[in-house]
Amino acid sequence: MTPLLLLHEWSDLLIRWVHVIAGIAWIGSSFYFIHLDLSLIKRDHLPQGVSGEAWQVHGGGFYHMQKYVVAPDRMPKELTWFKWEAYMTFLTGFAMLVVHYYANADLYLIDRTVLALEPWQAISISIGVMVLGWAFYDTLCKSKLGNNDVALAAVGFVFLVAMAYGLTHVFSGRGAFVQLGAVIGTIMVANVAMNIIPNQRKTVAALIAGQAPNPAYGKTAKSRSLHNNYLTLPVIFMMISNHYPLAFGSKYNWVIATLTLIIGGVIRHFYNERHAHRASPWWTWIVAAIAFIGIILLSGVGTLWASAAATPAAPVTFAQVEQIVVSRCSMCHAQEPVWEGLAVAPKGVALDTPQSIKAHATQIYLQAVATNSMPPGGNLTEISVDERQVLAAWFDQGAKAQ
Ligand code: HEC
Repeated sequence: MTPLLLLHEWSDLLIRWVHVIAGIAWIGSSFYFIHLDLSLIKRDHLPQGVSGEAWQVHGGGFYHMQKYVVAPDRMPKELTWFKWEAYMTFLTGFAMLVVHYYANADLYLIDRTVLALEPWQAISISIGVMVLGWAFYDTLCKSKLGNNDVALAAVGFVFLVAMAYGLTHVFSGRGAFVQLGAVIGTIMVANVAMNIIPNQRKTVAALIAGQAPNPAYGKTAKSRSLHNNYLTLPVIFMMISNHYPLAFGSKYNWVIATLTLIIGGVIRHFYNERHAHRASPWWTWIVAAIAFIGIILLSGVGTLWASAAATPAAPVTFAQVEQIVVSRCSMCHAQEPVWEGLAVAPKGVALDTPQSIKAHATQIYLQAVATNSMPPGGNLTEISVDERQVLAAWFDQGAKAQ
């Protein structure tokens, strides 16, 4: 192990660690504030400028929250801003995109069978889509449409579905999912950096100058933060999906992405209604369950029940399987991979001994039979359809190592 590799592996883990922590802090505080905001109750005795109050109990004490619609008469000395959670999530997320998806674009981002891109092209598209995605969304919000929540949500949804379709037809399934998550995540962070925080600054500045701040600042900031709220759950799905080839590996992956947008949206709606002391819309769980069953079925189209329906394949010997794995997988999946750019077995999956091939039988099946996720990059090592069928038959016949 060279010191450089040691450093690389640990900086990789460190970035991911901080990314997840920052993400938890960001999502946690924004869920909290949306909940708080919705649960505020208007009462008669409230001080001037206060639109509602809420009582909460946590950690052994009672909290009495009051929301000043614009700002109090007097600026408090200590004012807590919430922005670094969002910025850190973006910075670390982008760093991971660079370290994994850009540094090894041919393995992670590109699928030659989808579109034969050069790494620089794939990277440019990736960055371009993030910038344009935000520009389009922001323009939409600022247009006339922005005054109509339902119309805006409908157009936004169609835009994201089109994005999912487009990305899955440009990148590998895995790359497309992470990219879609990155586009939505960028919109969410940009909402904080370009809209919510600047509007709050203007409000504070007006107050310090002794002027009445424009309530529109608070209103747009609030609506952007509600958009973020509805987008959170799908983004998390996209980010964790890359270890589940069934999620991104089928040809209906863009429909799966669409269904996660619906699931995430209706579940947030359930909580938002409930937290606002309105009747809980239980139908949302039925919609979410149906959509999730839809996802499961779509991920298995073509492979589900296929092995039961097929005429029993001739018994497969382990020697056949070993030969396929050695010639199609082991250049990367070995203790010491010979594939350039790989220093250790990817994800610790070394497929260079009969025992390890047998031990990884289910994963081999999921990656190389149920989906075409491996070999990556759009079948870089050119495994044939027949060879995939041999692996399938071996798996169906009990995945024996002899
Ligand atoms: C060109 C190099 C390369 C080849 C060839 C290759 N893989 Fe992989 N494989 C990778 C990389 C890189 C990863 C790690 C992906 C990640 O970081 O999530 C991986 C991950 C995996 C995983 C673990 C997935 C996870 O997320 O836990 C399995 C299982 C796997 N490959 C099976 C195979 C099989 C089976 C073959 C042959 C049919 C194969 N791979 C061929 C590069 C390769």
